[in-house]
Amino acid sequence: SNPSLLILPGDGIGPEVMAEVRKVIDWYGENRGLNFDVSEGLVGGCSYDEHGTPLTDETMARAQEADAVLLGAVGGPKYDNLDFSVKPERGLLRLRKEMDLFANLRPAQCFDALADFSSLKKDVVAGLDIMIVRELTSGIYFGEPRGIIEEGNERVGINTQRYTESEIDRVARSAFELAMRRGKKLCSMEKANVMESGVLWREVVTEVGKDYPEVELSHMYADAGAMQLCRWPKQFDVIVTDNLFGDLLSDAAAMLTGSLGMLPSASLGAPMANGRPKALYEPVHGSAPDIAGQGKANPIACVLSFAMALRYSFDQGDEATRLEQAIEKVLADGVRTADLLGEDGVTPVSTSEMGDKIVEALTAS
Ligand code: NAI
Ligand code: MG
Repeated sequence: SNPSLLILPGDGIGPEVMAEVRKVIDWYGENRGLNFDVSEGLVGGCSYDEHGTPLTDETMARAQEADAVLLGAVGGPKYDNLDFSVKPERGLLRLRKEMDLFANLRPAQCFDALADFSSLKKDVVAGLDIMIVRELTSGIYFGEPRGIIEEGNERVGINTQRYTESEIDRVARSAFELAMRRGKKLCSMEKANVMESGVLWREVVTEVGKDYPEVELSHMYADAGAMQLCRWPKQFDVIVTDNLFGDLLSDAAAMLTGSLGMLPSASLGAPMANGRPKALYEPVHGSAPDIAGQGKANPIACVLSFAMALRYSFDQGDEATRLEQAIEKVLADGVRTADLLGEDGVTPVSTSEMGDKIVEALTAS
């Protein structure tokens, strides 16, 4: 049977960018014999409108069973005053939590045609292709004790960085598996010089590394890592780090390359029966209410998220590369959505035109 893909377009520009991904999916079915059992569902505000909840149990169950989930974006001003328990983002949080998606993958990829967009020198970012793996479900954002307490005559704010060996082990394994499929280089970042959790992190990652002798493992203090990321990011292939450092490093790395409309992501969990991890793919951007409904959204982040699904959930690395190269070609031809415009007076294409151009480039590939 065909691999299954659950599509949750969500709110705002989510359905607009997802419509372009559907064109790409159809192209693969018609031209490459790559067929998916695609089904759609509601998440976020649109689910609340229909069912009074941002994610129904039924959709949750379908997500658990799918080989991969592809999500657009959730939220919007219409839902800003809803009770916290039914806010759109709760739908997304429930998916991440119940699927136990502990590894967040954020690529920082620079298409040559957009290298001028970076705030860094062109040769520092041109051709950049690195991946940050951030631990997503533990660490200082969750550790106990936490809270604001009275101590003497003042208050103290407390958070606890806490990692178990098994939490480090599983995210390290995800990162090594990725490194095996990429450049076979992994850099682990922590602060073992000043943090106990960092000492344990380094020990466990080193131990897991023995199962991956082909991967060249290095360790870096996270602050030095931040410097190296800005100085010469191409020295890295895969970086693995904890929740807090990963939050900062992945946002910084993302901006090495430019627009929010270009950034895909994946969140991976434990391997399923087929050996592939549970997975949710989504663009980094939100529902962009300021441009929703106007055909202005850049669909590339969502299309690149589907490329990640091809590579990491469906074992179609070559087809993922084909798709990325089609996007590279379209950009090299000067096709731009409004968010990618510089000062040079190029007329932007619409969301749908960008999708058509990508499909044309696929056909020419
Ligand atoms: P946003 O990412 O939606 O938009 C930030 C800015 O980037 C806006 O000016 C927007 O027009 C632009 N932008 C974003 N994606 C774009 C694209 N594909 N093409 C062209 N321009 C694009 O973040 P913002 O404005 O902070 O949040 C808007 C709503 O989205 C809120 O309700 C927020 O809660 C939600 N949100 C949802 C996320 C998700 O579903 N994972 C993530 C972030 C925000
Ligand atoms: Mg962040």
